[in-house]
Amino acid sequence: SINVNDPGLITLVNKLQDVFATVGVNNPIDLPQIVVVGSQSSGKSSVLENIVGRDFLPRGTGIVTRRPLVLQLINRPAATTVNGENGEINTGNDSAANADEWGEFLHIPGQKFYDFNKIREEIIRETEAKAGKNVNLSPKPIGLRIFSPRVLTLTLVDLPGLTKVPVGDQPADIERQIRDMVLKHIQKTNSIILAVTAANTDLANSDGLKLAREVDPDGQRTIGVLTKIDLMDEGTDVVDILAGRIIPLRLGYVPVVNRGQRDIDNRKAISAALEHEKAFFENHRAYRNKHTYCGTPYLARKLNMILMMHIKNTLPEIKTRIQASLAKYQAELAQLGDSLLGNSATIVLNIITEFCNEYRTVLEGNNQELSSAEL
Ligand code: GDP
Ligand code: NA
Ligand code: MG
Repeated sequence: SINVNDPGLITLVNKLQDVFATVGVNNPIDLPQIVVVGSQSSGKSSVLENIVGRDFLPRGTGIVTRRPLVLQLINRPAATTVNGENGEINTGNDSAANADEWGEFLHIPGQKFYDFNKIREEIIRETEAKAGKNVNLSPKPIGLRIFSPRVLTLTLVDLPGLTKVPVGDQPADIERQIRDMVLKHIQKTNSIILAVTAANTDLANSDGLKLAREVDPDGQRTIGVLTKIDLMDEGTDVVDILAGRIIPLRLGYVPVVNRGQRDIDNRKAISAALEHEKAFFENHRAYRNKHTYCGTPYLARKLNMILMMHIKNTLPEIKTRIQASLAKYQAELAQLGDSLLGNSATIVLNIITEFCNEYRTVLEGNNQELSSAEL
């Protein structure tokens, strides 16, 4: 199985993504990301917060997420390492600041947010700055990185929830606008689709799964997340879905139990919610014999492994593209001569050169095969 303290490839890819964004160069490499899709209130924000182990996303009715949020989770060992503590799913105190855990926005370089309530406020502020105060969407992503010893290294993209009926002063074509934004993100063949569906609704009517099937008809890169298992009618369960007997997905489904609205109102800690989730699956008649394949910690591990395998499979292509970019920049460099070379071109050239070197190190040093058993 995977060593979460050695996230190697994913860290490297995140770094590359970051430097290209910083120097304002169009990313020449189509990097894999896990994109969250589902209808409004299906539990997308809850799933993301449980994976991070912290409360930090804006909540409310209507369309709260109006710009894509690119969330890079980066596993970073604590300065004083307690053996066995690193790499575990976050069970820390939700809103209390921890010295070893912070967020950074790409649009505010260098500023560390230790207070996760401030992260939420900044997401809201930055959403309003680009998409206005009301109901409009903006396709410009908000970049947020969270560093913590208790997360697995992952890149997740949160998108507006799919909606049918415009409410209040929402534009009449809001459904199409959201659909287009979601499609744009999941169309990329190297994106992994996290299709969130509430288990107390009909899977056949799942907006997230329907849209996923449009771009991934064979279910090769879609993973199903079933929320609200605790709200299902007595005597019903998702065992048939998990077994692939309803809508089969190659990457399968993971059932989860998030906080209910009342838990959120009562400020129930995510740590307590994760304990409750664990107990729920361990004690439930239908799930206790497969409880290790249920719940948020399993989902996070599975996503991390899928992302690693995906990047590994894409590496030859990434390598070709980087070498092509490198050759192009070197040709330009030769033509311009050092003295005429602009500053940003030099930076990009350095980055690509550095990446190629690091890439070589990773490939040559990391021959350990990933186990697909857990998938
Ligand atoms: P989003 O619109 O898809 O981001 O959905 P949210 O995560 O904001 O959740 C919508 C509502 O469903 C909130 O009131 C949550 O508390 C509730 N909810 C989400 N997941 C679960 C779950 O697994 N169980 C229960 N009981 N409620 C949930
Ligand atoms: Na949903
Ligand atoms: Mg949400």
